Amino acid sequence: MTDLHQERRCAESIARLAGNHIRRECNQQVDVSFKAPNDLVTNVDRSTERLITEHIQQAFPDDLISGEEYGQQIPEGPSENDRCWLIDPIDGTLNFSQGIPLFCVSIGFQIAGQTVVAAIYDPMRDELFSAAKGDGAHLDGQPLKTSSLDDISASVLVTGFPLGDTQHFQWTMEQFDLLTRTCRGIRRLGSAAIDLAYVAAGRMEGFWEYDLKPWDTAAGYLLVSEAGGQVTTIDGAPFSVHDSSVAASNGNLHGDFLRLLQSVT
Ligand code: IPD
Ligand code: CA
Ligand code: CA
Repeated sequence: MTDLHQERRCAESIARLAGNHIRRECNQQVDVSFKAPNDLVTNVDRSTERLITEHIQQAFPDDLISGEEYGQQIPEGPSENDRCWLIDPIDGTLNFSQGIPLFCVSIGFQIAGQTVVAAIYDPMRDELFSAAKGDGAHLDGQPLKTSSLDDISASVLVTGFPLGDTQHFQWTMEQFDLLTRTCRGIRRLGSAAIDLAYVAAGRMEGFWEYDLKPWDTAAGYLLVSEAGGQVTTIDGAPFSVHDSSVAASNGNLHGDFLRLLQSVT
């Protein structure tokens, strides 16, 4: 495996810089505009992505960078040497725009389409989750491990709701209903990257969602995998950031979790 030390340090320090920028900007006027109905963007999403991009370009001038607000197209069939950074400058923009202090910076680095470095920084709690492939996941330098629970009825799960009245929206509502009756509790935090980081940290046992984008999941799925969990599509196929669904768990519950999710689709 390539030595990823430099890339990991870079992802961690840029995620922190970006988070500090967001925390400062919270106290200024935040301008909100709409990319689509119910899909918000703020001036801070944009300035944060510019800041992250500039720093990555300084460190790795030849790498591709794909961010939510300005990004280039990510290669879907990447070649062996493709190096690409996937950035979500603020994951949880709706929370941010409402003054709800639950959002993060998410940075994933891929080689040949596989995430090999991840950094997720929550600036309001000053929590830095990071991982490198084969080297484990950490929270502020401490090793992370997914929960060891193997009883779905005692599990705490988290999800997000797709936009629009689609098949995926209907399925999510039915899954939400079924799982609310089956497990201990369900949360909807409003940041897919934090949802995945919390599964990695053993704070919750499972996360599922449809219609996420590569920058939402690129960092979080490596965190869960490196913390000992399992990540697939809701159909149970191996997960890639281009898939339209994700199911992440502590691993022990994965079979039961998928069976319940699939029972309504
Ligand atoms: C959103 C958040 C949310 C998820 C949405 C995402 P954004 O990202 O991750 O939890 O449910 O699907 O789009 O727009 O805040 O970067
Ligand atoms: Ca996002
Ligand atoms: Ca975003």
